[in-house]
Amino acid sequence: MNITEMQKKIIELKKEKDVCILAHSYQAHEILEIADFTGDSYKLSVDASKVTNKNILMCGVRFMAETCKILSPDKTVYLAQPIAGCQMADQMDKQLISQVKEKFPNHTIVAYINTTADLKTICDVCVTSSSAVKIVNNIENKDILFIPDCNLGDYVAKQCPDKNIKLLNGGCPIHACVNTYDVEKAKSLHPNAEILVHPECTPQVVEMADYVGSTSGIMEYAKKSDKKEFIIGTEISIAEHLQFDCPDKRFYPLTLKLLCPNMKATTLVDVYDCLNGIGGEEIVLDEDTIKDAKKCIDEMIRLG
Ligand code: 13P
Ligand code: SF4
Repeated sequence: MNITEMQKKIIELKKEKDVCILAHSYQAHEILEIADFTGDSYKLSVDASKVTNKNILMCGVRFMAETCKILSPDKTVYLAQPIAGCQMADQMDKQLISQVKEKFPNHTIVAYINTTADLKTICDVCVTSSSAVKIVNNIENKDILFIPDCNLGDYVAKQCPDKNIKLLNGGCPIHACVNTYDVEKAKSLHPNAEILVHPECTPQVVEMADYVGSTSGIMEYAKKSDKKEFIIGTEISIAEHLQFDCPDKRFYPLTLKLLCPNMKATTLVDVYDCLNGIGGEEIVLDEDTIKDAKKCIDEMIRLG
């Protein structure tokens, strides 16, 4: 079977089995083409809550599938590729953050959505990269403990000078790998290009950018801009998707280090297999985890 034939079969199977396919923008192009909803973490979590199908198939990483299950507990939610975790989400667990909370009892715990469902149960509010600044500004408390990404946290702290934001030493190892030398090199290769970066990059890299935003933010900015060339400082697939969407413009990955192995773990064959009942993993969370983790996702939607 070639890619087009497999995509056709997937489209038939998802209708027949009442499955809605969600795909994060870091997924491969052939997966985005067969998805019902695509976008960044925030958009996918809102889309997931509106889905009417009995089943949801998440093409992304585990915390995204868990978020779908929390928002749609009565639906059967599958993660297309069970090994697809998130290195940032796995850095901090409930035990660690419970200890930190004891030291900062009056702080509001703000969790980036890239955290496990279990950890979300003891946090106050979730944020995504596209909603973090707005949500933190809307929190009544001045004292905030922002976990786990200290780069996104630093970016938020600079945009919310009235808040007292405490950070821990976590983050995305893929985005944190980009350095100022990579930016200089990309700029010298493409001197007319605008630099668009994700706030998971270091503050030094963020400072050199023309635009800072979530994956959807970067895509929208590039599509609307009058400029013709862009250096993309987030997972390399975004440059590829933009190139399909805007053939008259040119998109260059900031560095080839920006490749997330977890996001690339899912293949079209995994999607096909999962729809055929082979592979994939059904996400199972107990009732208490769903109830407690939902509070901080509901807060995100309320404050966002
Ligand atoms: P977005 O919130 O922009 O979708 O980012 C998710 C992510 O995992 C970035 O590395
Ligand atoms: Fe997690 Fe980083 Fe991959 Fe995003 S790019 S899914 S934060 S490891």
